[in-house]
Amino acid sequence: MGLSSSYATSSLLQLVATTLLLVVFLLGSAHSARLDPQTSSCQEEKLHLRNQHANSTGLFLPLHHIHGPCSPLAHLPRATPSEVLAKDDSRVQNILSRLSTTTARTATTASSLSSRLTADGDLQDSKAATVPLSPGSSLGVGNYVARIGLGTPAKTYTVIVDTGSSLTWLQCQPCRLSCHAQQDPVFDPKASSTYSPVGCSTPECNELETATLNPSGCARLTGVCVYQASYGDSSFSVGYLGKDTLTVGSAVVPGFVYGCGQDNEGLFGKTAGLAGLAQDKLSLLSQVAPKYGMGFTYCLPTSSSSGFLSIGASYPGGSFSYTPLVSGSDKSLYFIRLSSISVGGTSIGVPSSTQTIIDSGTVITRLPAPIYTALSQAVVAALQGSARAPAYSILDTCFKGSYKSLPPLSLKLVFAGGAALDLAPQNIFYDLSGGSFTCLAFARSSRVAIIGNRQQQTFSVAYDVSGSKVGFASGGCS
Ligand SMILES: *[C@@H]1O[C@H](CO)[C@@H](O)[C@H](O)[C@H]1NC(C)=O
Repeated sequence: MGLSSSYATSSLLQLVATTLLLVVFLLGSAHSARLDPQTSSCQEEKLHLRNQHANSTGLFLPLHHIHGPCSPLAHLPRATPSEVLAKDDSRVQNILSRLSTTTARTATTASSLSSRLTADGDLQDSKAATVPLSPGSSLGVGNYVARIGLGTPAKTYTVIVDTGSSLTWLQCQPCRLSCHAQQDPVFDPKASSTYSPVGCSTPECNELETATLNPSGCARLTGVCVYQASYGDSSFSVGYLGKDTLTVGSAVVPGFVYGCGQDNEGLFGKTAGLAGLAQDKLSLLSQVAPKYGMGFTYCLPTSSSSGFLSIGASYPGGSFSYTPLVSGSDKSLYFIRLSSISVGGTSIGVPSSTQTIIDSGTVITRLPAPIYTALSQAVVAALQGSARAPAYSILDTCFKGSYKSLPPLSLKLVFAGGAALDLAPQNIFYDLSGGSFTCLAFARSSRVAIIGNRQQQTFSVAYDVSGSKVGFASGGCS
């Protein structure tokens, strides 16, 4: 996902960041002392858990909520709900600005990028001068992680899986400007016999601007292509474009193009980087497509279950009902058509002009204001008699007690062609303050609808990109 990162704020935040570092360090050590319950629930689960593997039809990876029982990052401190919702809001603002104009943004990021470069276009080497924004503190909120292998001999890395961005990148030695703290050792291209830098006048370097929505750069002395990937919450990664062997289970993909990040700052938790699944030529999806087909399936787990990501056109996870992928105002995001929402007996129509994005990184589903208002009113009417609670952050339809204490409510998102998500209570509501109140996990947006991950959790979602359709099936997470 990508937009303007504000380098100016980073110096202002240095003091804050240093303080956060200390707090995170202390929290981190406190947490490692009480890891046992999570470890044991994961052990139990592992008996049924698909291990990372590959066959002729695709690559299969366990997918974890960042705090899930088997997540490699389960021990990290959790973000508070207000942090989760604030970050969710910045992701949505980012998507909205990305849909409107490209020129203003490109100009801003171009100047940000140039401030990190030397006169001959290379990255500055000023590690000491840069303090990371907030290393490992605020987590990649609402993020899902998987492990991929890179290099020869292959080493595995925990990466954020994102359907809203294309370029895959890993923090990379020598971390010329900044690497945030990560759990795995930082990737060292010198230790990999198959690593090669990608030159400035290559098709891959030319693709960068489409993939990252930021212009590429060129280190003129070495002739190596420079990328900048930036994200809505002012997180970013800047570095050299490289190629190396990608490994998932027994599958080996030579010449995989990704970013070797030399300046990585922001809210990436302790992950090693990010794997991009948007529809773009440099996306991980497109790069493995010649062998496995252009598609993927996931089941996004809750923080107490495990899911999967399968890359390739095999679509495991159930019998799917499909809705067409449609074209939208951004070529790499996934657009479908929400046709109505049914609440109890009421059906709320959605105008066919409404653009709907299905996104794995947005937490709370957004609806254009008139549709949101109709939904909120229908939910309040259906739960008549349940005591209301005050609004919380972006959520304004709240009730006292946990969702578990509310009467049953049927809520279905219906898409063009009839495919539907028939939501369970935990897909509909978001418990707050330890379940003392709960809010409808939907919010209003200015224009587009975005189907968020809270609503997709525990469904299998198949993105058949070459067949131009998205399928939903219930179940799939374990
Ligand atoms: C490949 O693996 C997937 C996931 O485990 C499985 O569903 C599928 O049947 C396998 N296909 C072949 C051809 O072995």
